[in-house]
Amino acid sequence: MSSHRIAVIPGDGIGREVVPAARAVLDAVTARHAVSFEYEEFDWSCGGYLRDGTMMPPDGIERLRSFDAIFLGAVGDPRVPDHVSLWGLLIPIRRAFRQYVNLRPARLFPGVDGPLRAGSAIDLVVVRENVEGEYSEIGGRLSRGFPDEMAVQEAVFTRPGVTRIVDYALELAAGRSGRLTSATKSNGIVHTMPFWDEIVSERAAAHSTVEVTREHIDALCAKVVLDPGRFDVIVGSNLFGDILSDLTAAVTGSIGMAPSANLNPERDFPSMFEPVHGSAPDIAGRGVANPVGAIWSAAMMLDHLGHREAGAEVVDAIAATLADGSVRTPDLGGTATTGEFTGAVVAALGQR
Ligand code: NAI
Ligand code: MG
Repeated sequence: MSSHRIAVIPGDGIGREVVPAARAVLDAVTARHAVSFEYEEFDWSCGGYLRDGTMMPPDGIERLRSFDAIFLGAVGDPRVPDHVSLWGLLIPIRRAFRQYVNLRPARLFPGVDGPLRAGSAIDLVVVRENVEGEYSEIGGRLSRGFPDEMAVQEAVFTRPGVTRIVDYALELAAGRSGRLTSATKSNGIVHTMPFWDEIVSERAAAHSTVEVTREHIDALCAKVVLDPGRFDVIVGSNLFGDILSDLTAAVTGSIGMAPSANLNPERDFPSMFEPVHGSAPDIAGRGVANPVGAIWSAAMMLDHLGHREAGAEVVDAIAATLADGSVRTPDLGGTATTGEFTGAVVAALGQR
């Protein structure tokens, strides 16, 4: 029996609805694979912020450090500014635990109608740099309240930071199609992006089996809409990867389906798994959130913890449930609740 300690942060809104869904599927699959997960739940959220004035306690990072993985729902509340919730919880965790790879797969599952007319097969992964780049604390504001008020925010790209994310993406691509697309904007952003491109070229030379293509982010967005099937692994900076992965989620049917892993590949610290979507205040509390993003994130967690077969079974059960089509949540045009869909995924697991 292989056992792991998992820190669970349900968060706010539909985070609290999709986390139990993912746990139900994990319970079902771990029982079949002689894996045991011991969960500890942390009620850190915007709700907590409104109550106590902090998103997480001062020793929050220390309390998470000894876990094997962190599973997060979503944080966000209309009463709390989004930069407070993001910088008070998610970003500190990503940075303290050096989760510099943000992996965001997107697949158009059979049976799901994406919004695109030409339904080509889509099965790609966005590899987003997760701890530096445009999401930088370096900068500030001056002359607040005066007509010449200003804000400066410096994008930070380091040689080790770009090298490790590009290497990760190259290795991932080598194990898939052998094709990697690098998102850039070196025509307009004249310091950091040519630097990014240079490192991509250097690292590509060291991974000669992978064919690397460079695309400016604006043109790349257009191509992802026009012909998503041509892409396999796409690597981008923190901002480009974030925007691109919402786009790839949208073209595969619903933002509710997109999973993500925040990885510390060296395994010095716990990695964190979370759906890409937010707390969705517009549908929260109705029990109709699509749990696929959370369940698929749980599959990525199984994979990371060394249970590849169990992870693959979960993704297959999601695929089988979507292909069957009789049970689906409202975002995919159905009428099922989160619980009904989850029950169908658990049943599909049992039928293997
Ligand atoms: P969102 O992802 O919460 O919602 C965008 C739209 O997609 C909404 O119409 C929502 O109903 C729908 N949607 C999202 N997930 C869904 C699901 N699983 N099933 C069905 N429909 C789904 O993004 P939004 O509205 O920009 O942000 C809401 C809050 O969430 C904000 O406070 C934001 O800061 C926060 N947020 C948190 C994230 C996180 O915790 N990682 C990520 C993104 C946003
Ligand atoms: Mg995003």
